Amino acid sequence: MDYFGNNGEHDNELLEAQAHAWNHIFNFINSGSLKCAIQLGIPDVIHEHSKPMTLTKLVSALPIHPSKSGCVYRLMRMLIHSGFFALQKVPENEDQEQEGYVLTNASKILLKDCPLSVTPFLLAMLDPILLKPWDCFSTWFGNDDSTPFKTAHGMTFWEHAGHEPKLNHFFNEAMASDARLATSVVIHKCKDVFEGLETLVDVGGGTGTVSKAISKAFPHLECIDFDLPHVVADLKDDGNLKYVGGDMFEAIPPADAILLKWILHDWNDEECVKILKKCKEAITSNGGKTGKVIIIDMMMENKKGNEESIETQLFFDMLMMVLATGKERDEKEWAMLFQEAGFTDYKITPILGLRSLIEVYP
Ligand SMILES: C[S@@+](CC[C@H](N)C(=O)[O-])C[C@H]1O[C@@H](n2cnc3c(N)ncnc32)[C@H](O)[C@@H]1O
Repeated sequence: MDYFGNNGEHDNELLEAQAHAWNHIFNFINSGSLKCAIQLGIPDVIHEHSKPMTLTKLVSALPIHPSKSGCVYRLMRMLIHSGFFALQKVPENEDQEQEGYVLTNASKILLKDCPLSVTPFLLAMLDPILLKPWDCFSTWFGNDDSTPFKTAHGMTFWEHAGHEPKLNHFFNEAMASDARLATSVVIHKCKDVFEGLETLVDVGGGTGTVSKAISKAFPHLECIDFDLPHVVADLKDDGNLKYVGGDMFEAIPPADAILLKWILHDWNDEECVKILKKCKEAITSNGGKTGKVIIIDMMMENKKGNEESIETQLFFDMLMMVLATGKERDEKEWAMLFQEAGFTDYKITPILGLRSLIEVYP
């Protein structure tokens, strides 16, 4: 059957449909090209040049084989199109070429030494270990594995991270890079969230980036970074910060506040309710005081979102389906979890771009 008719009348629609399909088929080329540029060190080379860098200078500064010189222009053209570099006029008489490459905000945040760099996150998400599950996505729909990650690797993400030091390392680095960025915003914009607290446990706090920053910003606050034993094994307590290994499904140390940054979106509703109930025990068994849970996670259908933000939230939701058992949630779904876990109230502060800070009260 010819869905578009065969009299030429719908040729344009047919061609548009083909172009749309091509664009989506090749979406991976955006991330593949960006990863290549990062691995070649292109943002850092342009940054060190500190003025618009001509193609000739860029080519000679890169660690590439001479036979590939002609390909740099095409890689850069792709990345200019996707907003990571721009062209600017080179000062007169300085060079034969009139234009040179400069960084944009999107590539400044990929610089190696930028403390808020998202490069570790990029390298982790595009590592073959995390890409393989996408190949098993449709197979997973036909079996009873908990995640496509399990179909690909024969164990859950967290089990694999416990066995494979490379995955444990690059995943923790990726989380730490995001944690630096998110914490700097939270500490600047939401100081009051931590006011009056004496103790805080960062549950699933990874290698402690968030706890380190909070314990420094609030020296009177006793902080615990709580994560799986293989994550915190080699970390040393420091002043008002302690590292504790354990399983949040078993027990969480008592505190005035429990922080859950990028935790609940990893888990399905049933698992989240279990975690939240353990949090509730921890904040109500703290010497008779009642505290709060502070969640940093995505809130779907953020009204401020533009088309790209909505797509990014949908990407994260799919990522949670493929790597873990989780999902991204809208306010109604969050509220349901809080109620089922026995909490009575919550307050949402949308301060983190695509994510929000949610304070939840028993
Ligand atoms: C997505 S990462 C978030 C890390 C950190 N909160 C951040 O945002 O940078 C999830 C964390 O949960 C930890 N985790 C997974 N299962 C856990 C469990 N049963 N008990 C404690 N932590 C767990 C992982 O080791 C990992 O560090």
